[in-house]
Amino acid sequence: MKAAAYLGFALQVLAIPVQALRIFQTNENGWAALYFRTLNNMLKANGHDVFAMAPAQNHPGTGKKLGKPTFRKKPCDYDTCPPNSGRWGYNGSRTDLMWINAYPVVAMEYGIQRFSREYWNGEAADIAIAGVNHGAALWMNVHFSGGVKAAVWAAKKAGIPAIAFNAFTPYPFWNEHPTTLPWNIQPEPPGAQVYAELATQLINQLALSGPPYLPRNVFLNVNFHEVTPECANSSNWKWVLTRINQGTFSPQDVFHCFQHRLPHEFDVYYFHKGNIKQCFIPISIGDARDVSTVNDGFTNNRILHKGRQRDVLDKLRPMLSCF
Ligand SMILES: *[C@@H]1O[C@H](CO)[C@@H](O)[C@H](O)[C@H]1NC(C)=O
Ligand SMILES: *[C@@H]1O[C@H](CO)[C@@H](O)[C@H](O)[C@H]1NC(C)=O
Repeated sequence: MKAAAYLGFALQVLAIPVQALRIFQTNENGWAALYFRTLNNMLKANGHDVFAMAPAQNHPGTGKKLGKPTFRKKPCDYDTCPPNSGRWGYNGSRTDLMWINAYPVVAMEYGIQRFSREYWNGEAADIAIAGVNHGAALWMNVHFSGGVKAAVWAAKKAGIPAIAFNAFTPYPFWNEHPTTLPWNIQPEPPGAQVYAELATQLINQLALSGPPYLPRNVFLNVNFHEVTPECANSSNWKWVLTRINQGTFSPQDVFHCFQHRLPHEFDVYYFHKGNIKQCFIPISIGDARDVSTVNDGFTNNRILHKGRQRDVLDKLRPMLSCF
């Protein structure tokens, strides 16, 4: 780690300089997708050292797909690489931005193990992120999400703290409609900037909390709903610590907001008052071993595993709200 260059641009996210992290970034929707690029730019503007490698094309709902990168005959999405360009390639003017002709989990694997290490002279990423992905990944859908599965791979197989950032799209992945927007769309729709600011806020908070940035085998699953007029300013959004699965029959969760049960990410994501959608962001503590909720395992009032939930809570507490 090195001290962050304090760029004026960072003011739009956090008023104090944070520790710079080495961040590996991939996504589910391809390297040319808007939300991915906006976040990439903002993390760099905040002084982080970002290396990005993402699929050549949109791969929605391919969380279970593995394999090796293959030779690409077609152009990349939105013509961002010419036909017959090989298995991977660079943005012509940047060595920190690559595409790979593979599924999201494979992009994470190759990016973490090989390409980002070459870029950082053998050093590993401090954290790995997937997103911001176009399309929410909540509850049972986490098992289909390429972004979530990529984050799970990083936490479980590479031991690197990982976060999946997913955002609202009106089109579910089984719909024929393309789910992404191109990186150079003009004018940029307002959501891109808001999602990037919020994701950067979380990463800066983790940086501030110091290493280890997350407990072992833990990943975070974050979902942003639609940027409605009420939620057009990122300062109106509230982060809520949640569960991936409902906790009805589970052991108690960490004590937070006067109870021993964290809310379900699904309920927080869809919560509204009357017709007005509330700007809540569910942030779930995921167990990378089975893609379920990390649970502290209180049984007969005895703490069996002392608190991966609590460790995450302590790191994020300054930015959390009650639901
Ligand atoms: C390549 O990177 C430059 C500099 O960030 C950017 O302006 C350009 O749009 C990028 N092109 C592609 C295809 O990624
Ligand atoms: C968002 O809200 C903050 C705090 O209320 C304010 O300072 C800022 O100017 C607002 N940003 C925009 C783009 O309206």
